[in-house]
Amino acid sequence: MKEMIEKPRKINMLIRKWVSDLDWRLLFLVIVPLSLLLFVSLSYTPINSVFPLRSFIFNRNNFSDCISTCPPRPPNQTHLAKSELLQSRIAVCLVGGARRFELTGPSIVEKVLKEYPNADLFLHSPMDKNTFKLLLLKTVPRLASVRIFEQKFVPQTEEQVRVLTAANSPNGIQGLLQYFNLVEGCLAMIESHQRQHNFTYDWIVRTRVDGYWNAPLQPQNFVSGQYTVPSGSVYGGLNDRLGIGDFYTSKIALSRLSLIPKLDSAGYSQLNSESAFKAQLTTQNVSYVENRLPFCVVTDRTYQFPPAHLGVPVAALSSPGPLSGAKCRPCTPICKDLCVADIMSWLDKRWSWTNWGNGTLELCNAQGDWENGWEKIFDRVAGKKLAAERRRVKVLNFDKCVRDFREMKQKAVKWEAPGVKEICRLGLGMSRR
Ligand SMILES: *[C@@H]1O[C@H](CO)[C@@H](O)[C@H](O)[C@H]1NC(C)=O
Ligand SMILES: *[C@@H]1O[C@H](CO)[C@@H](O)[C@H](O)[C@H]1NC(C)=O
Ligand SMILES: *[C@@H]1O[C@H](CO)[C@@H](O)[C@H](O)[C@H]1NC(C)=O
Ligand SMILES: *[C@@H]1O[C@H](CO)[C@@H](O)[C@H](O)[C@H]1NC(C)=O
Repeated sequence: MKEMIEKPRKINMLIRKWVSDLDWRLLFLVIVPLSLLLFVSLSYTPINSVFPLRSFIFNRNNFSDCISTCPPRPPNQTHLAKSELLQSRIAVCLVGGARRFELTGPSIVEKVLKEYPNADLFLHSPMDKNTFKLLLLKTVPRLASVRIFEQKFVPQTEEQVRVLTAANSPNGIQGLLQYFNLVEGCLAMIESHQRQHNFTYDWIVRTRVDGYWNAPLQPQNFVSGQYTVPSGSVYGGLNDRLGIGDFYTSKIALSRLSLIPKLDSAGYSQLNSESAFKAQLTTQNVSYVENRLPFCVVTDRTYQFPPAHLGVPVAALSSPGPLSGAKCRPCTPICKDLCVADIMSWLDKRWSWTNWGNGTLELCNAQGDWENGWEKIFDRVAGKKLAAERRRVKVLNFDKCVRDFREMKQKAVKWEAPGVKEICRLGLGMSRR
């Protein structure tokens, strides 16, 4: 209470000094409203935390119903309360191949989808021998739309060849275009659903099938008017392994193919995925927030250890995190504490560097295949529930696969995929196990 009264008084004295040669009546006119404003703004802070409803009302965009007693509008839109998010329309867009989905899928269900049970899931994934693992999504609260497609060559335009670079992309420009197509396709699914049901989502969370989450997605990451991305792993641009925004900013962020002509006419060239993503936001005047987010991208690829200046560090899946989308695998960490400090201060901040402070990161030697016994390591780190899901996929047979996949299909509002038997046969064979 004392501080609340002290602050305006100090400021009043300052002002008094500055304008000591002004007419006192004028000064009175300035000070009284100013103190009132300060007092109101200071006294709102405690009230907000006592009555969440108040912050619920004042955090909304609409300030029209408060005229004289309003707190000053915060300079930037602040984040939302969880209670408000739970009443908003959220789309979660999940893209990518299902390679290690028996590890990542259940973590996405627990830490993202069940945290926001009002969220509609949109799944966009290429068909391959791991697709059957997607049946783990049959437990999600709301399944809006599933699209599993046969991967085709994406024809490339002259503009795309000018704007993009094949460097550091495992499958060259085609690899980038496939990825962009995957992301933008998810936006198309969402827009089609919106048109069909005549509404617009308040939020779109775009995330990856190969993301392993070790903590819940927090409401602070929903910032209206700005696009939230993970910090670190920027590779010369912006980390594009996850994004959260309102519909407007998300539309820009997810329009990865259709904005390329804009990048071309703005004179960009030789962009990788991350720098194209950054250019997309900056040319469209979308500001962004870089937050630490509790997921890593599970990878089977091998990487040099210790990493070179522009090399890729591979985190142990058991790292306390948040790992903000850094590459990871289940391993016995070879490098902790001072060793991590050593390696991470050697990495280029504008490339593969990621936040590592306070023991959040432990590293694997990812030069070879996943180590023997990685399953045990995973089970110990992920806990009983996720370990059970991993084993469920491991012992799954064809018949159970078909049953579960059909169950999931029935839950979906829209379903566009090869036949369920075909998906299960490709992954499990007809009569194996
Ligand atoms: C708030 O907005 C100002 C400019 O309008 C910007 O400089 C500042 O970084 C923003 N702060 C946050 C926390 O986003
Ligand atoms: C869609 O919603 C708008 C506003 O909520 C309403 O005016 C319009 O009639 C609706 N259209 C259909 C086809 O339901
Ligand atoms: C972005 O802002 C700049 C400068 O304010 C403006 O010239 C440009 O037209 C804006 N671009 C878009 C796509 O809004
Ligand atoms: C480490 O933890 C301390 C105390 O919790 C915090 O103030 C500091 O910002 C953290 N540092 C990093 C790099 O996360």
